Amino acid sequence: VTEATQPFLRALAGEPVWPPPVWLMRQAGRYLAEYKATRSEAGSFLELCYKPDLAAEVTLQPIRRFGFDAAILFSDILVVPHALGQDLWFEEGEGPRLAPDLATAPVSSLMRATDRLNPIYETVRTLRAKLPATTPLIGFAGSPWTVATYMIEGKGSKDHGRARLMAYADREKFAEIIGAITAQTITYLSRQIEAGAQAVQLFDSWCGVLAPAQFEAWVLGPTRQIVSALKGAHPLVPIIGFPRGCGPKLSVYAQETGVDAVGIDETMDLAWAIAQVPRDMAVQGNLDPLTLIAGGRALEGAVAAILRAGKGRPFVFNLGHGIGQTTPVANVERLMQLVRAG
Ligand code: CP3
Repeated sequence: VTEATQPFLRALAGEPVWPPPVWLMRQAGRYLAEYKATRSEAGSFLELCYKPDLAAEVTLQPIRRFGFDAAILFSDILVVPHALGQDLWFEEGEGPRLAPDLATAPVSSLMRATDRLNPIYETVRTLRAKLPATTPLIGFAGSPWTVATYMIEGKGSKDHGRARLMAYADREKFAEIIGAITAQTITYLSRQIEAGAQAVQLFDSWCGVLAPAQFEAWVLGPTRQIVSALKGAHPLVPIIGFPRGCGPKLSVYAQETGVDAVGIDETMDLAWAIAQVPRDMAVQGNLDPLTLIAGGRALEGAVAAILRAGKGRPFVFNLGHGIGQTTPVANVERLMQLVRAG
């Protein structure tokens, strides 16, 4: 099976495929009973990420159930800080914790532990053997800015104030952190590709909080660096950038980073977003995850509007952000009917 038979890869290559290929961010997760069962078998979320057979299993679960046009590796963006030497754990009901936080600790105090990523490459190899030949596998990483917010704050935060402050108050230290993440991310994504990932996505979930000059320095610069390194080694593997919340900075992101496709969040009007990017660049998005929880008319209306905006150009149907934990499976089934009907 070649690219020619895979709608997702064709769309990323610039072809207007219709009905559009569809996958959902966080498509493996707690809204699925089978995910919760496998997660408790693994012991914890992080152990699930590092057990290749079980991580491959949860990657496959949503493919079996819904027949999405792409699978996304099951892992987390925070395994990169773990590989850089921070301790990482998830507090039940609260979210990630990283220690020591780099607001206080120096970068030099971290002892690299890059072996921690080896099981993830094994998951990718396992998946390529187990996935249907018609279902491409997406690898991913967080973007340096988004990952840096967690490394500096030591947890998720509302406004990323400590990370943004460090970029002004101690630019040298901040640049060192971004540089370390960028280098590790290039290796991490290259190795995912070498193990069999056929496309990669960079999640920049928190780029929307940056002032323009900071966006230029810490989003555009490092993204360009990652894209050019990956393109040098793997020119044919498409890269999707997801600059969540970037608003009017979308056009500069789409034109100056070198990405092949852009993910659009639900706050943007899709037709407006499409007008900001080159005509042959694939756009991915942008259903509000809450409409998928609500279902019914709200879901039907929102899907129809997105299909109208995406028709006739390279487009991948997705959510504007990760699927919610309380999403009814029946609504995902309904979504698939609606998208398949074009
Ligand atoms: O899309 C997929 O199905 C692939 C897997 C994936 C996960 N996280 C699994 C996960 C991906 C691509 C991510 C990306 C990720 N992780 C991002 C960027 C995208 C986004 O959502 O903004 C971020 C910021 C993280 C960091 C992270 N991981 C947080 C803040 C949390 C806790 C919040 C929560 O929902 O509990 C996680 C945990 C996490 N990552 C879960 C899953 C399925 C839930 C863990 C569980 O099973 O309890």
